[in-house]
Amino acid sequence: TRVALVFGGRSTEHAISCVSAGSIMAALDPDEFEVIPVGITRAGQWVLTTGDPAQLAIADRRLPEITPEVGKAVVLPADPTANGLMVLDAAAGPQAFAGVDVVFPALHGAYGEDGTIQGMLEMAGVPYVGANVFASAAAMDKEFTKKLAAAEGIPVGPYAVLRAGVSLSEADKERLGLPVFVKPSRAGSSYGISKVNDWSELDAAVTEARQIDPKVLVEAAIVGREIECGVLEAETGGAPEASLLAEVRVVGGHEFYDFEAKYLDDSCEYDIPAGLPPEVTRQVQEYACRTFTAIDCAGLARVDFFVTPELDVYLNEINTMPGFTPTSMFPRMWAETGLEYPKLVSRLIRTAQN
Ligand code: DAL
Ligand code: MG
Repeated sequence: TRVALVFGGRSTEHAISCVSAGSIMAALDPDEFEVIPVGITRAGQWVLTTGDPAQLAIADRRLPEITPEVGKAVVLPADPTANGLMVLDAAAGPQAFAGVDVVFPALHGAYGEDGTIQGMLEMAGVPYVGANVFASAAAMDKEFTKKLAAAEGIPVGPYAVLRAGVSLSEADKERLGLPVFVKPSRAGSSYGISKVNDWSELDAAVTEARQIDPKVLVEAAIVGREIECGVLEAETGGAPEASLLAEVRVVGGHEFYDFEAKYLDDSCEYDIPAGLPPEVTRQVQEYACRTFTAIDCAGLARVDFFVTPELDVYLNEINTMPGFTPTSMFPRMWAETGLEYPKLVSRLIRTAQN
């Protein structure tokens, strides 16, 4: 099976996507899969890389980046002799990606996890791993995730949406209370997120979040444990499947599960399975699968929750292309559930949709 693994990209999560791709590449059995490693630079140029895993890891806190020099640029227009891979020439239409069986868009964030590349692949008629256009766009946007999930009866915490140019009203300040989290509506890996403990810090937090997305969410902080659940599309149709749950604990002075804690500081501890009573575990798994279905997801997702000391469960967000880095929860949860990393990625490729 010929798999185009696409990574890097134009989002703030460029580097994390590279690290995810390095791990996925290492897990793909070369007897079964021929991998075409396609990097996208931060400027949006598509380059065929060497796929050298050493270029795709975090080393000494340095984040990997796809630059035009990393690989040779994918030539335009289509060169049928070069892997049969042609990507950027819109005029190529359905011939784009000719010769590729499946595309694995290991991209996080904007222009990758948000329905944009999915739309391009739909137009080209190429099967790809993960959620379709609508689900990707809806899950990328924390406002619409909450609205769709709430409509299915899944509990979400109090929040306010600040569209471009709008500030938080006094009524909303009173309703939400302190502290709040200020987040870009469409982002990931905790980029642009601040915890606000005093309203005097709000404007700076909104300005920071707006550097990533003009639409910002202000969420009441839910005091509780961070609980995550992996969801996979059933192989034979039918209901999606939930993994064992993970609990993530941030140690070493981070105020929340931020970028540095996630990827740089080695300051996360985790339990799989999470130490929760069986009925709460079942509740979280049921909410995770229901969120997956409510948004019309396909392939995979990681659904993140808060569980309060009273054992109330709140949806935090859903990721349609969760991290696959060596420290990421999604592959670990499935490994503990009995699906080892190589089996997980080959299953994703098998269930890839058209
Ligand atoms: N957005 C990051 C990659 C995650 O959800 O794991
Ligand atoms: Mg996310």
